[in-house]
Amino acid sequence: MTDSITNIRARIADARREAEARGISSPRVVLVPTMGALHDGHLRLVDEAKKLGEIVVVSIFVNPLQFGPHEDLSAYPRTLDADVARLAEHDVHLVFAPTPAEMYPDGDASTRVTAGEVGFTFEGRTRPGHFDGMLTVVSKLFHIVSPDVAVFGEKDRQQLFLVKRMVKDLNVPVEVHGVAIVRADDGLALSSRNAFLSEGERRSALVLSAALDAAEFSQSSGVDAALAAAHSVLDGETSIDLDYLAAVDPETFSPVDDTHVGQAVLLIAARVGTTRLIDNRTLAVS
Ligand code: PAJ
Repeated sequence: MTDSITNIRARIADARREAEARGISSPRVVLVPTMGALHDGHLRLVDEAKKLGEIVVVSIFVNPLQFGPHEDLSAYPRTLDADVARLAEHDVHLVFAPTPAEMYPDGDASTRVTAGEVGFTFEGRTRPGHFDGMLTVVSKLFHIVSPDVAVFGEKDRQQLFLVKRMVKDLNVPVEVHGVAIVRADDGLALSSRNAFLSEGERRSALVLSAALDAAEFSQSSGVDAALAAAHSVLDGETSIDLDYLAAVDPETFSPVDDTHVGQAVLLIAARVGTTRLIDNRTLAVS
């Protein structure tokens, strides 16, 4: 099922009229952008979206612009029928699932939104161009859907930061709402990419959240102690390939040092087999 841009706009306009007919004077449109292969993390965003407005639109689009040439664009899980069925179970019927040709009729977007300095750090250092591609598609989705609110997960903390920054920098009339990370019972942050993990890799992947737990346990001893606690857990799992572990200021996304007091976000990224996983935790360091 794909909805053309004109079609989804018409359906949102209908939904507005229906809501107004039910006595809701200014129904709020809430957009949840996704790349599909929906899991309970995405669905938590949908549940949150329902609390924030009357009309919930979920977009499903595996955005080629945000994948590097050696990344998993072609292998990225695509489960559109199952996704639409799960959304219907959650009472969401406005699903915008365009084709790449519809989003990029010229094959590409020569005009891009650039993420600036933070776009080159952490995820951006390993994935050059990723955040420009992400902001460009989010910007396009904002223009197509015209939501009042858009919901993003804290799982992709740098993404959430950059979307908020874009909205502020470019005066985009959309309120951005962040939702806490949804985890499996064993602590692993839910991700569409977890589907790529073998049983053994999945067990190894638990070291990411275990390292963040250890850091949280040491948060009252300062940033360096929290990082050291996380490293000592990571050192015990040799089968993962750590990309970065860092503490940043949630307001600026700049690294913080041991003098920092207050909130700090611990970011972690690692390769487990061929799968790259990310996680993070907000600490209150003192
Ligand atoms: P995707 O990876 O499908 O994620 C869609 C949204 O779900 C993002 O806001 C992400 O942070 C959130 N999410 C994923 N796993 C989560 C979890 N375990 N807990 C809470 N939220 C979670 O992120 C993207 O797609 C794309 O970059 C997109 C924004 C759609 C632009 O293409």
